[in-house]
Amino acid sequence: MSGFWSAWVMVLACVTVGISLTLFVWALWMRIPTGEDGTTGHVWAHGVLREAVRPLPWWWVLISLGAFLFGVAYLMLYPGFGSSAGRLAWTSQGEQQSQTAANNALLEARLAPWRNLSIEQLAAHDEATRIGHRLYLDNCAACHGKYALGNHAVGAPDLTDADWLYGGDPQTILTSILDGRNGVMPPLGGALGHNGVNEVAAYVVSVSGTEVPPDWVAAARPSA
Ligand code: HEC
Repeated sequence: MSGFWSAWVMVLACVTVGISLTLFVWALWMRIPTGEDGTTGHVWAHGVLREAVRPLPWWWVLISLGAFLFGVAYLMLYPGFGSSAGRLAWTSQGEQQSQTAANNALLEARLAPWRNLSIEQLAAHDEATRIGHRLYLDNCAACHGKYALGNHAVGAPDLTDADWLYGGDPQTILTSILDGRNGVMPPLGGALGHNGVNEVAAYVVSVSGTEVPPDWVAAARPSA
């Protein structure tokens, strides 16, 4: 916040609190003139209704006073009074960082005893697999499915069967997860060349029943 706007906010805050505090004190202090019968002398409905004067209820006074004290204390402790950081130097980033650090410490304390266990030992550990399942649902289920049965549309294989693309031993699965796998369709441009790519593409298109140059199809048709 620039110096001008900071000062502007400070002036507005002082004026607003100042005016309402003055009104508050003035209302407690000032006496409304009353007649001998204790009313203001204002009369409505042909004398049926007369305006009396009552003191402000004590709870109203207390709550208002509390609100003023709270407001001033808040502006002193927290950011809000122009660009002042407040006595507590509180920031939302600071709070987020300290909460993240506290969460990380909790997580570390939970994981520390498992750090030296092998994947096989972890697989036999109830709590570890429960956490793993939750992580799976968050990070993997979108492709491999809630029950890990795979999804043909994205080419994500079934992880529950014994049929592995790369291998089902713990170390290979770890590599699959750590490094990712991308063997679905290797790039073939280098092997086929520009014409070859066109011809193969034409062949694939013709197989699906669309008109393409017949010599392209002939060039790419399997020779067997
Ligand atoms: C964006 C979609 C996607 C996400 C998310 C994803 N996968 Fe995969 N995963 C795939 C695809 C596609 C393959 C097949 C790769 C291939 O054919 O080379 C695969 C392959 C694998 C394999 C190898 C399977 C085999 O047969 O060898 C494992 C294991 C695996 N994923 C586990 C996971 C785990 C665990 C997660 C979560 C941490 C995960 N995947 C997240 C799409 C995904």
